[in-house]
Amino acid sequence: MLKSILSLAFLPLLVRADCDEWSVIEAAARLQQTQSYGDITGFKQLWNNLTYTENGKITDVATGILTKKLKIDNGRTFRDLTQCATYTEMIVADANNPYIIGTQMKISTKNGGVDRINSVVTKPGDWLFNATNYLYWSQRENWTTVATAKRDTRATIQKAADAYLDAFKDAKVSIPWGTPCARLEGGAYTGHGLANDTCNVGVPSGVTMKNRQYVIDEAYGSVDVMLNMGTHEWPDSHHFRVEGGKIRYVHTMTACGLPNCGLPT
Ligand SMILES: *[C@@H]1O[C@H](CO)[C@@H](O)[C@H](O)[C@H]1NC(C)=O
Ligand SMILES: *[C@@H]1O[C@H](CO)[C@@H](O)[C@H](O)[C@H]1NC(C)=O
Ligand SMILES: *[C@@H]1O[C@H](CO)[C@@H](O)[C@H](O)[C@H]1NC(C)=O
Ligand SMILES: *[C@@H]1O[C@H](CO)[C@@H](O)[C@H](O)[C@H]1NC(C)=O
Repeated sequence: MLKSILSLAFLPLLVRADCDEWSVIEAAARLQQTQSYGDITGFKQLWNNLTYTENGKITDVATGILTKKLKIDNGRTFRDLTQCATYTEMIVADANNPYIIGTQMKISTKNGGVDRINSVVTKPGDWLFNATNYLYWSQRENWTTVATAKRDTRATIQKAADAYLDAFKDAKVSIPWGTPCARLEGGAYTGHGLANDTCNVGVPSGVTMKNRQYVIDEAYGSVDVMLNMGTHEWPDSHHFRVEGGKIRYVHTMTACGLPNCGLPT
C-alpha cells in the first residue's frame, strides 16, 4: 500500500513531458492521409482551435492545399517530443500537378489535439523548383535514424543549422560541414551521390534568415527551420540532417510567389 502511494506520488517526476507521443504520431499520419485524399473531414476531429497558415499567411483550411488530392511520392515525418511538434516533407512528383510541401504542426500538451499547422507550399515557378529531381535525390539520401549512442543533443543540432543560416547574413560565420554533404534546393542538387560530395559551394551574403521556428528530432539528427528569407521575407523551410555536429543534408523550399524569386535562372 505504502509502496503504491509512493510510486503514484513520484510519477510526475518520472514522466518526461506532457507531450503524448501517440497523439503526435497520429496527427502526422493523418496529415499525409488527408493530403492523399484531399479530404479534411476526418483530420478536423483532431483539431483544437486551429491556426492554419500557408506560406506565412493565415488561410482557410477549406480552401487550402489539404483539400487537394495529391499523390505523395515521398513523405517523411520527424517528431519533436520536447516541443510537441512535427515536421513533414511531402514530395508530389506528378508531372501535371507537382508540389513540394513542408509542414510543421504543433500538438497540444493538454489534450493531444492539433493547435497549429504551418505549411510552405511550393510549385512550378518557385525557386529552382523541380519535384522530379527533389524526389530522386531525396530518396537516394540516408535519412535513417542515428544510433542512440551517436545522437547529437538538440542544442548541437540547432547550432549547426543556425550557423548555416547566420552565414547567409555574415560570411565570417563558420559552418560545420560534414562529408559527404549535399544541398537540395527547390530541385537543384549540389551533390553527385559521391563520398566526397561537398556543400561548401558558396552561400549568398547579406541575406537575413529571420523568424526561425525549429522542429528538432534528435533520433534523425533532423531540424527543420521555417523562416522568412531576405528583404522580401519569403516563406521558406530549411531542413537539415546533422551528424556529429556537422551538416550532411540541407533541403530547402522557398515560396516567393514570383518566377524563380525574381532571380536569373
Ligand atoms: C481561436 O483562435 C482565434 C485566433 O487565434 C482567437 O481569436 C479565438 O479567440 C480563439 N477561440 C477560442 C475559443 O479559443
Ligand atoms: C527536372 O529536372 C530533370 C533532370 O534534370 C529534367 O529532365 C526535367 O526536365 C526537369 N523538369 C522540369 C519541369 O524542369
Ligand atoms: C546511414 O546513416 C546512419 C547514421 O549515421 C549509419 O549508421 C548508416 O550506416 C548509414 N547507412 C548507409 C547505408 O550508409
Ligand atoms: C570525387 O570523387 C570522384 C569519384 O571518386 C572523383 O572523380 C572526383 O575527382 C572527386 N572530386 C574531388 C573534388 O575530389
